[in-house]
Parts: sequence; structure tokens; C-alpha cells
Amino acid sequence: MKTIFSGIQPSGSVTLGNYIGALKQFVDLQDEYNCYFCIVDQHAITVPQDRLALRKNIRSLAALYLAVGLDPDKVTLFIQSEVPAHAQAGWMLQCVSYIGELERMTQFKDKSHGKEAVSAGLLTYPPLMAADILLYNTDLVPVGEDQKQHLELTRDLAERFNKKYNDVLTIPEVRIPKVGARIMSLVDPTKKMSKSDANQKAFITLLDDPKQIEKKIKSAVTDSEGIVKYDKENKPGISNLLSIYSILTNEPIEQIEAKYEGKGYGDFKTDVAEVVVNALKPIQDKYYQLMESDELDQILDKGAEKANAVASRTLKKMENAMGLGRKRK
Ligand code: TYM
Repeated sequence: MKTIFSGIQPSGSVTLGNYIGALKQFVDLQDEYNCYFCIVDQHAITVPQDRLALRKNIRSLAALYLAVGLDPDKVTLFIQSEVPAHAQAGWMLQCVSYIGELERMTQFKDKSHGKEAVSAGLLTYPPLMAADILLYNTDLVPVGEDQKQHLELTRDLAERFNKKYNDVLTIPEVRIPKVGARIMSLVDPTKKMSKSDANQKAFITLLDDPKQIEKKIKSAVTDSEGIVKYDKENKPGISNLLSIYSILTNEPIEQIEAKYEGKGYGDFKTDVAEVVVNALKPIQDKYYQLMESDELDQILDKGAEKANAVASRTLKKMENAMGLGRKRK
């Protein structure tokens, strides 16, 4: 079985973008791959976090991973900071990274732009992400489009490490979904939907209630043409809603366009809201049930144990290859 690794930051609410671009794919892949899914709390602290909120978000994200349909008997679900090899391998990969290539990462540029105090961790975020992936001999990394550049760097770092030291790292491939790799903001459909957006109306979270969802979709920015048609360039708002509708119902976009021919945006938006509410209802029910049970801790303990065993093996190989410490078997 080939191996998959992916991670999500517990840095706020999980959005419909995270679900469509990442979580939904994970569920589809769990039967065919050996899967590791991680709550990357060490990545979250590259920007300031409130400690109580972070703790809450870690637990909440763990419950959401399961609530969307991941089966803990099939996948390994764990918290990054509970597997020390990540930070250790991350350091080693920082030492094979160049400052210039890290400064060129668009996420670093976006997140540091206009800020007076930028943490060093924000710059060295990508080698830690590379460590996450490489420790598990990962073949495939399912992510949304915004992570593509980080994956390219991960491959570069792994190739550089292998060439410089010893061939110990597996070079991973990226897997980006054909539709839904970039769900857009409901307020500015030329921007990615992001949980860190200051405007709450820009994103739908997996825990929004039906009224909030309806309100946000009704007020989603579209255009004045009144025709429900997919045209990413000229109609980004409507195209975004069409993508959401299509992915959540599995209906092809052309079929949805035909259904709304001659109808206005009002009807379409009402139905998009209903589609989203219906898709999130079972996830929310499962989520609240999990948050009240002890199951979550048991699953995370088991996940950390399994992840630690695999990650520490690769770490040892990396240390031996680099000549760190004393030779170990
Ligand atoms: P994060 O937490 O920002 O997002 C988690 C996943 O959701 C995807 N995503 C989206 N997909 C479609 N449309 C959107 N609007 C949207 N917003 C987010 C992301 O592409 C991602 O797949 N650096 C990563 C976390 C990470 C990681 C890893 C991922 C750390 N280590 C190792 C994969 C492998 C991040 O910040 O994701």
C-alpha cells in the first residue's frame, strides 16, 4: 500500500475550503492508502496564538477529521507536537534549506507582508512541513492548490538531502483535486477562502448553523448579469458557488447550469445554501457526539504511538546519513 500524509493547522475554524480542498479527498483515499493525518500545531504557532484557543482548536480539529468520515481503524490521526521527530527532522531540513528559497514562498510573503514583527518560524515553516511529509516515506500528499509551492520545495529538499548525504528520503508527489482545489472567499471571489480572513462573511465554517450559512451565501458577492454560468475569469463569484454545489452533490456543473437557466441568482443561492446545510448536518452531528466522548483521546494516543514508531525510524536514518551523534542501528 502506498502512503499518504497530509496536515491541517488548528489555527481557527475549519472552513468549507479546507473540507472541499482537503478533508473530503482524505475520506475518498482512506481505503486505498496507508494514511497519516496530522494536526499541525507547531505550524500554527508560527503566528501568535492564544494558548487556550489553540488547545480548543486542536481538539476540535481532531473531532472534525473523524466527523467528516475518517475511520481511526484505517488512518493514523495524531498531533504534530506529540511526535518530537517532526521538530528534530525539521531542524535538519532547515540546515539544507537556503534563506532565499524560503523568502520566495508566497505564503511567507503574504503572511509577513506589512508586519513589523515576523517570527523566524514563519520563514522556516516549509522545512518543518517537509519533515512532516518525509518522515513517513510518503508517496502522495493530498492538498489544496495553495500548498503546491510548499510541496515543490519539499521535493527539492528531499532530493538535495539524498544527493548530499545518502538516499534515505522518499520523494513525494502532490495530489490536487481537479475541482475545488481553491474555494474562493464569499466576499471577494478573487481571493482564497481563508479561516484567517478578518471578515467572517468571507468563509463558511464546518460548524456554522443553517441560518449563518444561508446568510453568508445569500450575501455572497456575484455579478449583475443574472446568468448562472461557470466562467472563472468573468464570473468568479457564481463560478465559486457552482463549484461548491457541484462538489457537494456530485452533479456535473453543466447539469446545474441547465437547471437554473432562466432563473435568477436568488433561487440559485437558496439552493446552494441548502446543499451546504445538508452536507454539513451529518458532520456536525458526529462532531458534537465525538466532542463529548473519551474516544478522541484514545484515538490520538494510539495515533501518536504509531506515528512516533515510524517517524523515529526515519529520523535515525537521517541522523546517520548526516553524521549526527553516534552511529545507531
Ligand atoms: P491549512 O491548514 O491552511 O489548510 C489545510 C488544507 O486545506 C486546503 N485549503 C483549501 N483548499 C481549497 N480551497 C481553499 N480555500 C482552501 N484553504 C485551505 C489546504 O491546501 C490544505 O490542504 N501548510 C499546510 C499544513 C501542513 C501540511 C503539512 C499539509 C503542514 N504540514 C504536510 C500537507 C502536508 C496548511 O497551512 O494548511
